[in-house]
Amino acid sequence: MKIVDIKNLHVSFQHHDGIVKAVRGVSLELFAGESLGIVGESGSGKSVTFLAFMQLLKKPFATIKADKLILQNTDLLSVDKRTLSNIRGNVVSMIFQDPMASFDPLFTIGHQIVETIQIHNPIRKKAALAKAHDLLVRVEITNPDQVLKQYPHQLSGGMLQRAMIAMALSCEPQILIADEPTTALDVTVQAQILQLITDIQTETGMSMIIITHDLGVIAETVDRVVVMYGGRIMEIADTVTMFESPLHPYTKALIESIPGRVAGKQKLPEIKGASPNALAPPSGCPFHPRCSQADAKCVSDMPELQTFENKRAVACWQVK
Ligand SMILES: Nc1ncnc2c1ncn2[C@@H]1O[C@H](COP(=O)(O)OP(=O)(O)OP(=O)(O)O)[C@@H](O)[C@H]1O
Ligand SMILES: [Mg+2]
Repeated sequence: MKIVDIKNLHVSFQHHDGIVKAVRGVSLELFAGESLGIVGESGSGKSVTFLAFMQLLKKPFATIKADKLILQNTDLLSVDKRTLSNIRGNVVSMIFQDPMASFDPLFTIGHQIVETIQIHNPIRKKAALAKAHDLLVRVEITNPDQVLKQYPHQLSGGMLQRAMIAMALSCEPQILIADEPTTALDVTVQAQILQLITDIQTETGMSMIIITHDLGVIAETVDRVVVMYGGRIMEIADTVTMFESPLHPYTKALIESIPGRVAGKQKLPEIKGASPNALAPPSGCPFHPRCSQADAKCVSDMPELQTFENKRAVACWQVK
C-alpha cells in the first residue's frame, strides 16, 4: 500500500539575488513498512523535498507547487492546520539534521519527552514518565534516570541523537523521516544509531525515510534508494540493484566514491567538477557538466524519469 505519494513537486526560494530552484519536479512513493533512502550531494534538495512535504517551509519565502502531495488518504496541499498538526504528531515523526533543534535548551530531556507523550496520548504524568524511561532504554541509553533529569547541552552528540530518536518515537509514528541522523557523529556511533533505527523499524513495522549524502551509510539499511542531484531524481532502484547495476552515470560515480571500495592507500576517486548552482542551474540534465557520457541532447534537454519494471527508474538520455 502506498502511504506517501509525491507527484511533480517544485520548491523555490526567493533570495535577494534571485530565485533558488531547490526542487524541480520530484515524484516518489513510499510503501507501507518500507524503508527508503534519499541520497545526493549537499544542496541536491533532499531536505527541502521532505520539509515541503510536511508543510514545514515558511511561506512566502518558499513557493511549493505539486500535482500531488498525499499522505495516506490526506492531500497535504489542501489540509487544514489542525489536521496537519495531528499528522505531524501521530502519523509522521521527523528527525532533523541538528539534534539541538529538536529540543528546547531550557527544559530537561525528561520534561520534553513527557510533554510530547502527553500531547498525543492523554495519560498521567507518572505513566508518561515511565514511558519516557522505556523509550530511553530502547534507544540504548544506559543511564535513563540520569538523562531524564538532564538538559540538552549536558548530553554528548551521540546521546543527544539517541534522545532525539526516543522523542521522535514517543508518539509511535507510522512513518519516521530521519534527515541525516548521523553526520555529526563518529563512524562507530553512526553505525550504531542506524542499526538502532533499523531494529526499531523491524520491530514496529513503521515505514522509514532516511536522508543522507552518503550512499555507503545506507547500503545495508534501506530497501530502496532514490538518488537526487540538482533538485531532480536521477535514479530509483532497490538497494541491491542500485549497487550491483547502477544505470545513471551519477549513481555510478557515487558508488565509486564510497570509502572502502578503493583498495589500499589509493586516493579516493572524487566526482570532478562543482555541484550545480541552484540560482542558475545548467540547461538540460543537471549532471551534464560533470558527466563523461554527456552529448548535445544532454546539454539541451532535461531527461524525464523513465520508470521500468520493479519500481526502477532512471533519468538519463544515455540509458536506452
Ligand atoms: N530556507 C531556505 N531558504 C533559501 N534557500 C534554501 C533554504 N533551504 C534550502 N535552500 C536551498 O535549497 C537547495 C537545496 O537545499 P537542501 O537543504 O534541500 O539540500 P540537501 O540535499 O538537504 O543538502 P545537505 O546534504 O547539505 O543537507 C540549496 O541550494 C539550498 O541552499
Ligand atoms: Mg539536508
